Amino acid sequence: MMGRARSKSRQVLCTSISYFYVICLSAIFLVTMLMLTFRFLQMENPLRYSDPVLKSRNKDFEAQATSGAEDIPSLLRKLRDVPDQWDASAAHVWDSENAEYYYGCIKPSKNYSIDPNMEVNGYLLIAASGGLNQQRVGITDSVVVARLLNATLVVPHFDHRSYWKDPSNFSDIFDVDWFIQSVAPDVTVIKELPQTVRKSLPKQVYNLRVPRKVPAWYYSRRIRHLLKRKHVLRLTKFDYRLANELETDLQKLRCRTNYKALRFTKSLQDIGQVLVDRMRAKGRRYIALHLRFESDMLAFSGCYYGGGERERRDLGSIRKRWKSLRLQNPERERRLGKCPLTPEEVGIMLRALGYGNNTYLYVASGDVYNGEASLAPLKALFPNFYTKELLANQTFQWPQANYQTQCQEVGSAFFCQA
Ligand SMILES: *[C@@H]1O[C@H](CO)[C@@H](O)[C@H](O)[C@H]1NC(C)=O
Ligand SMILES: *[C@@H]1O[C@H](CO)[C@@H](O)[C@H](O)[C@H]1NC(C)=O
Ligand SMILES: *[C@@H]1O[C@H](CO)[C@@H](O)[C@H](O)[C@H]1NC(C)=O
Ligand SMILES: *[C@@H]1O[C@H](CO)[C@@H](O)[C@H](O)[C@H]1NC(C)=O
Ligand SMILES: *[C@@H]1O[C@H](CO)[C@@H](O)[C@H](O)[C@H]1NC(C)=O
Repeated sequence: MMGRARSKSRQVLCTSISYFYVICLSAIFLVTMLMLTFRFLQMENPLRYSDPVLKSRNKDFEAQATSGAEDIPSLLRKLRDVPDQWDASAAHVWDSENAEYYYGCIKPSKNYSIDPNMEVNGYLLIAASGGLNQQRVGITDSVVVARLLNATLVVPHFDHRSYWKDPSNFSDIFDVDWFIQSVAPDVTVIKELPQTVRKSLPKQVYNLRVPRKVPAWYYSRRIRHLLKRKHVLRLTKFDYRLANELETDLQKLRCRTNYKALRFTKSLQDIGQVLVDRMRAKGRRYIALHLRFESDMLAFSGCYYGGGERERRDLGSIRKRWKSLRLQNPERERRLGKCPLTPEEVGIMLRALGYGNNTYLYVASGDVYNGEASLAPLKALFPNFYTKELLANQTFQWPQANYQTQCQEVGSAFFCQA
């Protein structure tokens, strides 16, 4: 009796264990299949639109672009009639599929520390260079370089002689006290060289132009000795003078500077806010575009946009500014994707991504090459087209007209908020 009961219960136990296994295996199988399907769908459809006509057109385009059989303008003509009816309010085009996995990572890692008794090697002066974005890169990197050199940084000087001829100083654009305070745990920043240091200097500060994108060791080994000897160094044309790749904590410092320490002045933020509010009052969602279809950019790229002798002359004269610029084959550059997109190409791309003709666009840019003529096709694709000028009215005035950087910066402020 007892024996049979025990073997019966053993049977029951065995059966339930095998059921358990079967269920587990099926579950694992199912999950794997689901994951594979998901991966497959993702691979198939990264942009999440599945218009078969467009798909085949895109294939065409790719094939043509690589085979080089058809010229780009005629390909564009084909792509131009993207359907109008996509609805801009369709949520998926505004979503980022993996947004929930993103998180801020600018805080220093546990390894990072700064020796409070660190010996300061000297003062670092920075002459930023180029347009505003480029100068911003330089300012960001200057903080990292000051860290690498154990130097005290003097608030970087803006470039007043570049293409934009903009007289703005650092404190006209960025909140300088906030900047100093924000980077204080990493780097000491001062507004000006102390009087005593200035008095002890030779007439000319030692100027130095570092090669482009040098690795961190270049500063901590080579430049350090120079700084120690000269006590004050000015790094000129300081834009892309530090390698992209840095050890994690220096990269984080770069991010802290760019995303936290560089904050626009209150007045610029206010103007930006007015624009954001006006834009939101028109369309709840909108795209902020910074077209970089300006003559200096086009000249620098060495590309050709079909404007004949006039274009060659216009861009050629600007090109003379860069003595070391080598002209490539424009057609080849274009095929390699190195030419700035025309406003129309940007429009076609947005439409192909699924933004309908009822999408609101805010266009932030300087003087677009060929102005209205270049912009018209983009406006035709997106009739709800706004610029800062179109949003301004009598109750709202722009800062002085020649302050290109400020106006551009407002464009970017606006971009950040969008
Ligand atoms: C922190 O230090 C450890 C040990 O030296 C190293 O393995 C790790 O990569 C460092 N972490 C970061 C973020 O640098
Ligand atoms: C900076 O200071 C730290 C701590 O005192 C030191 O370990 C490092 O070698 C110094 N670096 C330079 C480039 O002087
Ligand atoms: C920027 O600073 C320089 C030197 O301090 C000064 O002469 C110039 O007027 C300033 N520019 C503006 C726009 O305030
Ligand atoms: C978008 O396209 C549709 C269909 O062609 C047209 O009826 C509508 O007026 C367009 N919308 C705008 C804002 O132009
Ligand atoms: C300017 O635009 C704002 C916001 O759209 C509006 O409230 C104000 O009445 C406008 N002023 C004029 C003079 O058009």
